[in-house]
Amino acid sequence: MFITFEGIEGSGKSLQIARSAAYLKEKGIDCLGTREPGGTGFGIELRKILLGTNGYSIEPWCEVLLYLADRYQHLKEVIEPALARGVVVLSDRYQDATRAYQGAARGVSGAEIEKLSQVLGIREPDRTILLDLAAEEGLGRARTRNLLSGTAESEGRFEAEDLAFHTRVRGAYLELAALHPERISIVPASGTPDEVFSRIRGLLDQWL
Ligand code: TMP
Repeated sequence: MFITFEGIEGSGKSLQIARSAAYLKEKGIDCLGTREPGGTGFGIELRKILLGTNGYSIEPWCEVLLYLADRYQHLKEVIEPALARGVVVLSDRYQDATRAYQGAARGVSGAEIEKLSQVLGIREPDRTILLDLAAEEGLGRARTRNLLSGTAESEGRFEAEDLAFHTRVRGAYLELAALHPERISIVPASGTPDEVFSRIRGLLDQWL
């Protein structure tokens, strides 16, 4: 099973993926936690280009192409081989992020993104957990984290976008969830990490 975690900045995906992976391992289920961008050696290099605040601009379509390049390599090198071995794959972001960030928030045509993704054979995940949070709260959490960890420069390109941008991202994720209720489950991301994880655990128990 291929499960993706999505949400705006600061929604707590990374922590919840780590907890989910530990929980599944405890249950004796073989699983792999990975992420986009940056799930392969090539992807780690792309991540620096995509998330750094290095003073250069990137055209919205260039962003799409780089995220798809990262995803294609990730699928071929990591995701598909793991699924073929029967391993449960948990990915911190995937295709819905391109739909929400580059499609809805940057304004690239969603139909064109789908066309190109189809040419590349980008498969849909089996299940998606959407960690939902108000944009103000998520952005505040993410900016504080970047300041405390000293990653504002190397990882802060999207956190530097304004509230309207992040509000569009959140709205797009919620629309995707309404369009694909069989695949995407909305999990409120407010509350303590324990409270959020107990909501996720319920879903994992149902699916696996
Ligand atoms: P994160 O791994 O810390 O969540 O950062 C990844 C950033 O990249 C986040 O701001 C969202 C952005 N992103 C896109 O814009 N499009 C994509 O397809 C993906 C995977 C991520």
